[in-house]
Amino acid sequence: MSTSDHYFSEQPTSTSAPTTHEVKVRNIRFTLAGDRGVFNHGELDWGTRVLIENADVPSGGVLLDLGCGGGAIAAALARLRPDAEIWAVDVNERAREVTQRTMTLNTIGNVRVASPDEVPIDLRFDAIWSNPPIRIGKSELHILLESWLARLTPLGCADLVVHKNLGSDSLAKWLATRGYAVQRHTSKQGYRILHVKRIV
Ligand SMILES: C[S@@+](CC[C@H](N)C(=O)[O-])C[C@H]1O[C@@H](n2cnc3c(N)ncnc32)[C@H](O)[C@@H]1O
Repeated sequence: MSTSDHYFSEQPTSTSAPTTHEVKVRNIRFTLAGDRGVFNHGELDWGTRVLIENADVPSGGVLLDLGCGGGAIAAALARLRPDAEIWAVDVNERAREVTQRTMTLNTIGNVRVASPDEVPIDLRFDAIWSNPPIRIGKSELHILLESWLARLTPLGCADLVVHKNLGSDSLAKWLATRGYAVQRHTSKQGYRILHVKRIV
C-alpha cells in the first residue's frame, strides 16, 4: 500500500496486485479475491470469520454487507441465502472491483456491488452484516452507522463485529443512546458481535 493509502481510500494509488485465497468458514467454501489497497489484502480477517461463523443467518430477503472490502461477508451471505438480494457497498473503488471479482470467481449472481451513492435511497434492509471501518474515526463511524441503520426495516437488525480493543463496548453504549437495543451476541478472541435492533 502506498503511504497515502488506507484501506478506506476511495481510489487507492498503490499498484494493483490481485490475489485469490481459498476460504472455508461455517462449512461454506469460496474463493476470496484481494488486492493491495483493499482491507486485509484478500485474506479472511479474524473478526470477519467470527461474524460469519456466529451471527444468526438473516431470515429477510434484502441484505447489506456494509463496507464490503473484498466481499467475504457478501459471498458468505450469498452462500447461506442464495434466494436473498444482497448489496455489497464500499467507498473504495478497488474494493468494489475486488468484490465483483469474488462474485464472478464463485458464480454468485445475487450480490449487487455498489458505491454508497448507487444504492437506491428508498431501499430498506432486513439485515446488515458488517465489519465496520473503525479506523475512519469515531465521528465518521457514527455518521456512517446512523445513516445505514436508519435504513433497516422496522423489524430489521444489524450484526457488527468489533474488537474490544477497538471500542466495541463504547460503540454499544453509543448505539443505545441513539435508540437501538444492543445485545452482545458473541465474544471470541476479543471480537464482539453487537446485535443491533431499533427499539420500537
Ligand atoms: C474493516 S473493513 C471490512 C471489509 C470486509 N467487509 C471484510 O470483512 O473483510 C471496512 C470496509 O469499510 C469500507 N468503508 C469505509 N468507509 C466507508 C463508507 N463511508 N461507506 C462504505 N464503506 C466504507 C472500507 O473501505 C473497508 O473496505
